[in-house]
Amino acid sequence: MRPIYRIVVPFSILALHSCGATAKKSHSSTSAKADDSTAATNGYDAVLCGVSGWSDNSGYSFNADAWNPQGDGYQCLSIINASSPTDAGFDATWYWPDDPGNVHSFPHVTYPLTDLPSALSNITTLRLAAGWAMTPGSVSTARGLEKRAAFDLDGLEDIGATANVAFDMFLDEDPENSTNATLAGYEIMIWIGRVGTPYPLGYDSGNASCYTQQLGSFNFSLFTGLNSHNASVFTWVSTTDQLTFDEDISPLLQYLWRNDLVSADVLLGVIEFGSEAYYASGNVTFSAGQFAIDVLNGDPPNFSLDAIGKDCPKPKKSNAKAKARPAELSVVVVFAICTFVALSQGNGILF
Ligand SMILES: *[C@@H]1O[C@H](CO)[C@@H](O)[C@H](O)[C@H]1NC(C)=O
Ligand SMILES: *[C@@H]1O[C@H](CO)[C@@H](O)[C@H](O)[C@H]1NC(C)=O
Ligand SMILES: *[C@@H]1O[C@H](CO)[C@@H](O)[C@H](O)[C@H]1NC(C)=O
Ligand SMILES: *[C@@H]1O[C@H](CO)[C@@H](O)[C@H](O)[C@H]1NC(C)=O
Ligand SMILES: *[C@@H]1O[C@H](CO)[C@@H](O)[C@H](O)[C@H]1NC(C)=O
Ligand SMILES: *[C@@H]1O[C@H](CO)[C@@H](O)[C@H](O)[C@H]1NC(C)=O
Ligand SMILES: *[C@@H]1O[C@H](CO)[C@@H](O)[C@H](O)[C@H]1NC(C)=O
Ligand SMILES: *[C@@H]1O[C@H](CO)[C@@H](O)[C@H](O)[C@H]1NC(C)=O
Ligand SMILES: *[C@@H]1O[C@H](CO)[C@@H](O)[C@H](O)[C@H]1NC(C)=O
Repeated sequence: MRPIYRIVVPFSILALHSCGATAKKSHSSTSAKADDSTAATNGYDAVLCGVSGWSDNSGYSFNADAWNPQGDGYQCLSIINASSPTDAGFDATWYWPDDPGNVHSFPHVTYPLTDLPSALSNITTLRLAAGWAMTPGSVSTARGLEKRAAFDLDGLEDIGATANVAFDMFLDEDPENSTNATLAGYEIMIWIGRVGTPYPLGYDSGNASCYTQQLGSFNFSLFTGLNSHNASVFTWVSTTDQLTFDEDISPLLQYLWRNDLVSADVLLGVIEFGSEAYYASGNVTFSAGQFAIDVLNGDPPNFSLDAIGKDCPKPKKSNAKAKARPAELSVVVVFAICTFVALSQGNGILF
């Protein structure tokens, strides 16, 4: 295994996330429908394809969330040990050979939210855990969980795989909207892995080294932007791939409200973990498991937060839930930006 972090990236690829995440759609559909006969044959509890979801009310729920399918591409998500709070996991095999500039799916697990929604400033601890692997091909781990350990970066590079691995959280001032990813006014992502060169919204703002926070033994950089719902998106990007993650992430939340980027009383109502898949010229399997969540509400501790970088502007409060522009205008703007970026292919920039 070798480190994934790459310094110089083609400018065209930098646009991937901007042009992709801006189009993020609902991924909250839940139906128990699944191809159970196929699932049973392969040793899985359920197989979900397209945008279908699955939940047995035992805690975790799962969603294939292939919300932006393209051409010959496809994705299915197979659930293993579905009802086990400690051993649940999934394998999502996808193939997105077209439209490399956009996210096509976000196969994910949704964590149980017994003690949420909760105001950001009333979260004492928010421990999140997950483990993941990614390999080229269609890897089934239903009869051999040890296969899940693989992370074949060279093999993924051979097929041009582009994807991130991330926690995805949704928030809003309104308790009901805070529990719906489509209606929520704020989104906070924590990227713990990157394959290929996916980039977060706002990567090109020039302040990549301005807003950072150490968590555990890793450092995260903050990027901000607006998605197509005009929701404010805050993306914490780890500078190192973390194949297993088990941390109290509340310092990353605290950074946002103590620095006045998000109001302290905004409510956190959805927490997911998965992988935004952009492109691969062959099958890729993303596997995930070892999920855990612990929420403790009440007075937050006063974490020591990293100082804002030298010569960096003080962060400005985002203006979520502003009046959306007419849809056609946003489409034109996004199209123009993506076209500009496509034309700029070849210019490397430092990240
Ligand atoms: C998980 O699922 C696999 C395959 O169905 C099975 O062999 C294993 O016993 C399960 N583990 C637990 C802890 O249920
Ligand atoms: C979220 O809101 C959208 C738009 O109103 C709605 O279609 C969808 O059913 C809601 N999802 C859930 C899980 O309530
Ligand atoms: C919930 O979100 C929708 C869509 O943004 C918005 O129209 C509605 O006013 C919100 N509801 C509340 C109570 O904020
Ligand atoms: C994180 O940043 C701190 C402060 O700049 C540095 O001392 C530390 O080595 C970094 N850790 C990693 C894992 O990069
Ligand atoms: C890709 O995955 C699909 C679904 O698992 C499978 O049917 C197909 O044979 C795989 N293709 C290759 C080349 O492995
Ligand atoms: C903060 O959390 C505590 C502990 O769960 C709860 O009693 C209190 O009502 C919460 N405060 C607010 C403002 O939500
Ligand atoms: C948190 O601690 C810092 C220094 O460690 C201090 O400057 C700041 O005022 C404290 N904030 C609160 C709200 O207690
Ligand atoms: C980063 O810089 C841009 C201007 O280049 C600014 O609009 C944005 O607010 C900055 N980000 C933060 C978190 O302050
Ligand atoms: C989003 O909200 C901002 C802040 O008010 C506004 O200026 C902008 O026009 C909106 N953008 C879109 C695409 O709706």
